[in-house]
Amino acid sequence: MKYSRVLGTGSHLPSRLMTNADLEAIVETTADWIQERTGIEQRYLVADGETCCDLAEAAARRALDAAGIQASDLDLILVATTTPDQVFPSTACLLQQRLDVHGCPAFDLQAVCTGFVYAMSVADKFIRTGAAKYALVVGSETISRILDWTDRTTCVLFGDGAGAVVLGAADEPGIISTHLHADGAYKDLLQVPGGHGNGHPEAAFMEMKGNEVFRIAVTTLGRIVDETLDANGLDKSDIDWLIPHQANIRIIQATARKLDIPMERVVVTVGEHGNTSSASIPLAFDQAVRDGRIRRGEMLLMEAFGGGFTWGSVLIRY
Ligand code: ACO
Repeated sequence: MKYSRVLGTGSHLPSRLMTNADLEAIVETTADWIQERTGIEQRYLVADGETCCDLAEAAARRALDAAGIQASDLDLILVATTTPDQVFPSTACLLQQRLDVHGCPAFDLQAVCTGFVYAMSVADKFIRTGAAKYALVVGSETISRILDWTDRTTCVLFGDGAGAVVLGAADEPGIISTHLHADGAYKDLLQVPGGHGNGHPEAAFMEMKGNEVFRIAVTTLGRIVDETLDANGLDKSDIDWLIPHQANIRIIQATARKLDIPMERVVVTVGEHGNTSSASIPLAFDQAVRDGRIRRGEMLLMEAFGGGFTWGSVLIRY
């Protein structure tokens, strides 16, 4: 039996820092409201001309360095993104060309904030079936480009960035299990209504009924935690680190309470990065690996919830 194992992580943030105080000049809000209701203090945004692929490339190169493999060793390139550079080619194909890799499958995966969890699950299946030995999984977003900067209920919440993981085949896990779900019945609560496909590209900006999303996110993430533990016969106390999607500190705290895990064992970056959608989990993961908090052999639980609705988890023996 083959498993996939995390060989290396990387991440990259764009250089334009926007604080809550900066937002006070753009929309009718206060730094305190944003901090108290979300935990966000600042976020990083792309500059003019900077793209999703630029962020993905920087994160990917760091992950490849950490993994100690060459880009030419890759058998699969997956980019989870909601904000691809172009309608096509996929950002994964653009990244493949930047890395000077030729021939291996490369594709984008769109599951909004759950995108990285979905992409890890897909890459894990490629490796378990023997279809790939080394896979690059990236979450990269320029969410700032699909925000309505006159809508204070959404524009204060998000940031840009990228995170990446290199997975390699191993005889022992590694990724223990992944759990994916979606329910399109909730499509109207969180959406970008316009697109080229429906003839309304001019309406390609995010709309969210934040309050309803919040309530459903808290209960759904509680359920996915139980599902993951039950599927593996594990107890809450077996989890060393929770690496949640970073949407709102209050949602993260609710999941931590459900797990009886102290906040010191939860990787929290929402204050510094805001919600970077599919990039948020790999950004947090890389930060905690590089600062020495997460160590080899520890049990990690990643969980995410986002537009669709989509939700899911990844359980990893790091
Ligand atoms: N500044 C000041 N006041 C504001 C702001 C703002 N930026 N935004 C909203 N308000 C006001 C509202 O108008 C409302 O005023 P009212 O009472 O006079 O009507 C009041 O603040 C409270 O608004 P709520 O929406 O009830 O505030 P809430 O505490 O729910 O926080 C938030 C809003 C932060 C959006 C929260 O609901 C949330 O985090 N939702 C979930 C987000 C999420 O997880 N999304 C999924 C992932 S994202 C993805 O997939 C792309």
